[in-house]
Amino acid sequence: MEDMRAPDFPELVNGLLEDVKKVYRMSSGRVFVFPSSGTGAWESAITNTLDRGDRVLMSRFGQFSLLWVDMAQRMGLEVELCEVDWGKGVPLEAYRAALAADKDHSIKAVFATQNETATGVTSDIEGVRRVLDETGHPALLFVDGVSSIASIPFEMEKWGVDLAVSGSQKGFMLPAGLGILGVSDKALEVNRRRNKAGMERCYFSFEDMIALNDTGYFPYTPATQLLRGLRAALDMLLAEGMEQVWARHAYHAEGVRRAVAAWDGCELVAAGPEWASDTVSAIYTPEGVDARDVIAGAYKKYQTSLGTGLNKLAGRAFRIGHLGSLNPVMLCGALSAAEMALIDAGAKITPGAGVAAAQDHYRTGR
Ligand SMILES: Cc1ncc(COP(=O)(O)O)c(C=O)c1O
Repeated sequence: MEDMRAPDFPELVNGLLEDVKKVYRMSSGRVFVFPSSGTGAWESAITNTLDRGDRVLMSRFGQFSLLWVDMAQRMGLEVELCEVDWGKGVPLEAYRAALAADKDHSIKAVFATQNETATGVTSDIEGVRRVLDETGHPALLFVDGVSSIASIPFEMEKWGVDLAVSGSQKGFMLPAGLGILGVSDKALEVNRRRNKAGMERCYFSFEDMIALNDTGYFPYTPATQLLRGLRAALDMLLAEGMEQVWARHAYHAEGVRRAVAAWDGCELVAAGPEWASDTVSAIYTPEGVDARDVIAGAYKKYQTSLGTGLNKLAGRAFRIGHLGSLNPVMLCGALSAAEMALIDAGAKITPGAGVAAAQDHYRTGR
């Protein structure tokens, strides 16, 4: 183990915290890196800026937005909830109506899951900011970027995001174990004002983290190996350039979507191209084909792990992740395994149809 109190440890820490901000696209505010998963960063965002009983505006359209709502309710927030069909994302007009009706600004925060990993749906975060601005509402904007930040466009500062959550195991291309949280100056100010009031917090306290991060250290044992990994991931991302990273994800995702379109009877869970995610595709299996059989077959027969259908998508859909350090050949491999497993499970698909459609796309290059 590297010594997390070594005299030169701050050189690693200071550089990391600055460079994560470049990926989040923020020049002010702060970044916290917790030895946790993304769920810890969710909790930190809530406990450091909100009080029990605060009203918050949220929407639920998949397993991860559902779990965030569940956390908010369990932590004592009064959740104004918009239910959305799974396949769509943050409902801008419903948010507008709720914010416009909230004349005394009792809603303290608006939550938005940028990329619902369960359904492969991306929401318009810039649109949420626009709705807040147009209704003149001062609520904090919370964004779950676990499966979007470092992969698809995310602009913390330009979009006026106040708290943005991610984790090491998705766009940052690392094993799980870091909860990463971007915090705006406005959210830091809210945290400072309420300091000792509000929700209890200890492990995830901003104050403790700030006090030690300012000296280049952590208030408890950080996941040093993962921090070294984060250094390598940031070097890769920043050397490529975030615009290129985003373009690469769009290019990879399109090949997967072309394959899905070529698979008879299969369909994206995303309810239209405007919702389709560039980091993960959730795919309905044809009528009568159990997605669990496809996933089990791909795993056992072709040594390929497809994502499972979560919650109400269990048995109806499987998922292909296409974020991080991938190339078209790897994706053609995954598509080939999915295609074979679909056929084995009873889908009436011409062998090679989806892979050929993806190849046609990838051969055009970017
Ligand atoms: C969109 C989204 N939010 C939150 C989480 C929870 O993060 P973690 O599992 O790292 O705690 C996940 C996990 O996959 C996710 O995809």
